[in-house]
Amino acid sequence: MFVFKAAVVGAGTMGGEIAQVIASAGIPVVLKDVEQRFVDQGLEKARSVTEGQLGGLVGKGKITQEQADAQAQEIVGRIAGTTEYDGFGDVDLVVEAVPERMEIKQAVFAELDLVCPGHALLTSNTSSLSITEMGEATSRPDRVVGFHFFYPASMMRLIEVIYGEDTSDETVQTASNFAQQIRKQPIRCGEVPGFVVNRILNSAASEIWRVQDDEGLDVKEVDRVVQESKATPMGPFFLADLLGLDTVLHVAEHLEQSYGDRFFVSPAMRDLVAAGDLGQKTGKGFYEHG
Ligand SMILES: NC(=O)c1ccc[n+]([C@@H]2O[C@H](COP(=O)([O-])OP(=O)(O)OC[C@H]3O[C@@H](n4cnc5c(N)ncnc54)[C@H](O)[C@@H]3O)[C@@H](O)[C@H]2O)c1
Repeated sequence: MFVFKAAVVGAGTMGGEIAQVIASAGIPVVLKDVEQRFVDQGLEKARSVTEGQLGGLVGKGKITQEQADAQAQEIVGRIAGTTEYDGFGDVDLVVEAVPERMEIKQAVFAELDLVCPGHALLTSNTSSLSITEMGEATSRPDRVVGFHFFYPASMMRLIEVIYGEDTSDETVQTASNFAQQIRKQPIRCGEVPGFVVNRILNSAASEIWRVQDDEGLDVKEVDRVVQESKATPMGPFFLADLLGLDTVLHVAEHLEQSYGDRFFVSPAMRDLVAAGDLGQKTGKGFYEHG
């Protein structure tokens, strides 16, 4: 099956850029959130990423500013923002990118099952939750599959295609083909906690979170040292702020519950989330964000 039209549900940290990636590949996409202001933020994100990418081409002399402006308008024009399910009646694939809570995901999947055509694939950008359980909220568990982008979605090439117990081989194949259609590299993996990437990333981050807590180290100093070592482009506390502390905490807790104390949950992160300081998206986390 070829994807001629797609939809993204949730226009937050991930959703706006996911819609941008799909629109950049020439595919019309509906972007839905619960309130217009979140839809607008997602559209704005898509616009700024598009302008940044095309501005880079202008800087290299590959296209003119006029061509960049026209292309940006075309790409952003392919994204239709909405707070309702209008425009979902003829989609071939949906990417769900709502908060990492199973009850929210299941409610969205049940709604999508009602409003999308029978052939449509319902995919989830979940970082850690069960695809099988999301599929159970629908009448088409064979067409439910994980489709896990990485932050920032416009730059990171990898997509984990995660099969649940009921996901059909054809669905995994279609999702993998769609990943390539939007110029990403799919890898297939089973429904294990943390999948592939977060399991690796969190095993390293866990050790840093643990030593920071054990020794009472300053998080900014830890980040500075990690960054200066050039082991990663940025320190783990700053990265967590960008990703969203609620999302990072959820994944960390899930890994600790699943694999035991070789994974660690940062108490400082837990306190920030309890206080509603979720990082860049709320303006404050380990750092203050302008
Ligand atoms: N943040 C990351 O770095 C990252 C990376 C990969 C995957 N993910 C996953 O992507 C998903 C979304 O994460 P995020 O960081 O973008 O979250 P976020 O909190 O930034 O955004 C979630 C958006 O979903 C909206 N929403 C809530 N309920 C909704 C509903 N019923 N219908 C439509 N929209 C609804 C919210 O208003 C919000 O705008 C999660 O499953 C997360 O685990 C996140």
